[in-house]
Order: sequence, then structure tokens, then C-alpha cells
Amino acid sequence: MKIFLTGASGVMGRSSIDALHRAGHDVVGLARTPDSASRLAALGVEPCLGDVYDRAAMTAGMQGCDAVANLATKVPIGAQALRPGSLKAIDRIRLHGSKVVTEAARRAGVGRLVQQSLSFIYADHGDEWVDERCPVDVTRATEPVVVAEDNVRALADEGGVPVSLRFGLITGDDPNTAWLFRRAAAGRSIGLGEAESWMHVIHPDDVGTAVVHALTAPAGVYNVGAEPVLRRSYVDTIAAAAGRTKGGHFLPPWILRLGAEKLEILVRSQRVSSQLFSDRTGWHPIRPTLSPDWFDDLVPA
Ligand SMILES: NC(=O)c1ccc[n+]([C@@H]2O[C@H](COP(=O)([O-])OP(=O)(O)OC[C@H]3O[C@@H](n4cnc5c(N)ncnc54)[C@H](OP(=O)(O)O)[C@@H]3O)[C@@H](O)[C@H]2O)c1
Repeated sequence: MKIFLTGASGVMGRSSIDALHRAGHDVVGLARTPDSASRLAALGVEPCLGDVYDRAAMTAGMQGCDAVANLATKVPIGAQALRPGSLKAIDRIRLHGSKVVTEAARRAGVGRLVQQSLSFIYADHGDEWVDERCPVDVTRATEPVVVAEDNVRALADEGGVPVSLRFGLITGDDPNTAWLFRRAAAGRSIGLGEAESWMHVIHPDDVGTAVVHALTAPAGVYNVGAEPVLRRSYVDTIAAAAGRTKGGHFLPPWILRLGAEKLEILVRSQRVSSQLFSDRTGWHPIRPTLSPDWFDDLVPA
């Protein structure tokens, strides 16, 4: 198959290019600059110059494609997330970009659209398991994610197959984890929220394999991640990989007031099951359980 990717140069995009090529698919990648286009071409990807607001460029690039994966995003890293307006770019990509991508796919006659989404949108469920039937908790921070899922769902009205993948927190060799890793190595705290609450995580490599499996998934929303992990274990595993030996890696609870809704979504207890996606597509994570080797590429040689 031939797959059109937005966000091709990002963490999710690079993993998807790798996995799609390994599965024998051809990839067309949206690139915002000529430099980015050259880097994609060097990876064997056919570049398409434009951004997620450029419907004409994307419609042209999607011609002859069998599916689109919309992976474009603009995630603020670390303390940048607390700055005023830090979510403006990502919100626009979710609220408006997803609409333009859907419209381009429709015009190009592409019937399948995979949208990257987030399991952070679920309400706090304590120790209960969370599946796709569980309620989401819509706040100022999560609403754009929910709207993006709705925007791509519109493709089903015309017989298309929209698939939203609710990924856990990407954890591995990526800029956000690298930021946490550097903090931990410097002896600073990295944990937010309750130590005994649950997190849903995914290794970057498994994002790409999930995108490949989404090409055969029935329309719907799916949770996608490794086994949920207790926050204490997530924090301790990163801290240990960064060379810390003593505990005390959690930030004081008053910090949460600084970030309000931006940080609240990071501390919900979410024991998320990805069973439905496995049952329907045969996907299983290559990295099913968080372990210190997830951070091998961050450890200086
Ligand atoms: N589920 C999760 O936990 C999750 C999901 C996504 C990202 N993240 C994290 O966020 C951090 C940053 O991610 P990242 O390094 O992939 O970078 P990023 O800055 O979030 O960008 C992701 C991709 O989207 C593209 N993009 C941004 N704005 C665009 C636009 N207007 N039109 C078209 N494409 C656009 C970028 O292209 P350019 O190269 O041109 O900027 C890039 O290819 C990482 O730590 C990652 O793990 C986490």
C-alpha cells in the first residue's frame, strides 16, 4: 500500500516510516521545508511540500494513496509547556489541521484515515481498568484531542474508515523523555501526581507498528500502549536509568496549581487496556513492559 504521513519528521512519523517500510509499504511524507523534504527523501520517502493547513498540497500528495496517517503535532517540551500560549500551535493542529487533512483525504479519494490521539483524555479511573467504552473527561486541555477524533470520524459518513489511536505517553528516545532523563540525572525531581496512580505508556518503536496495524483495523477508536505502570515505577525506572540511587523523585503537589489544566491531564490515574486493538488487528507491542532498556539510547556511552 501507499501511505501518506503528516508529521513524518517527528517521533511518531519516523517510527511509522520505519515500520511501514519494513511491512513493504511505500510512504509519502508531508514536509514543511525543503530541508525536511531532503531528509525524508534520504529515508526513501517521497516528500510532499506543505503543511497541515495546505489542503491543495495535501490533496495532490495524497493522489494514489491507500491511507493517510495524520501524525502532525507540536508538543511543548518540559517547562515550556507552562508558558502562556504553549498549547496554541498543537490545539490549532488538532482543531483545524485535522479537519483540513480529512477534507484533503476526501477530495483525493483516500478511504482510510488514521488519526493520532491520546489516552490522556480518559477521566481518572483510579485502579479500575480503562477501555474504549470509558468516559473521557473534557477540559480546556483535552477538548482539542476529542474534536480531532470527531473531525476524522466525519470520513465514515462517506463510507471511509476513520481510525483514531489513543496512544499512551511516548517514553524512550524522544525529546520529552530526554528532558526528564536529564533532570533525573541532575538529581532533580521528575514525578508529578500520586505515586500509586496508573500511567499508560508506549515505546516509540510501537507507535510505528500500531500505525501499520491500523491499516487493517475496523473504523473506531483504540487504546494503544504497553502494560500500564504505576507512576512510582515510571519515575523510579527513569531515575535509576539516569544513575540515581535514592528515592524522593516526586515534585510537591502545589506545582500542579501552576499548570492547572495543562498539568492535570498528566496526573490522571489511567490503567488503560489496549486489548481491543490487539483483538481486532493482531497488534502486540514489541516493548510490552516498561523497563530500564527503554532508556538505553539516552544513556551516554
Ligand atoms: N502520545 C504522546 O505521548 C506523544 C504524542 C506526540 C508527541 N509526543 C512527544 O512530544 C515530543 C515532541 O515530539 P516531536 O519531536 O515529534 O516534535 P513535534 O514538534 O511535536 O512535531 C511532530 C511532527 O509534526 C510536524 N508538524 C508540526 N507542525 C506542523 C504543521 N503545522 N503542519 C505539518 N506538520 C507539522 C513536525 O514537522 P516539523 O519537523 O516541520 O516541525 C513533526 O514532523 C516528543 O517527546 C514526543 O515523544 C508525545
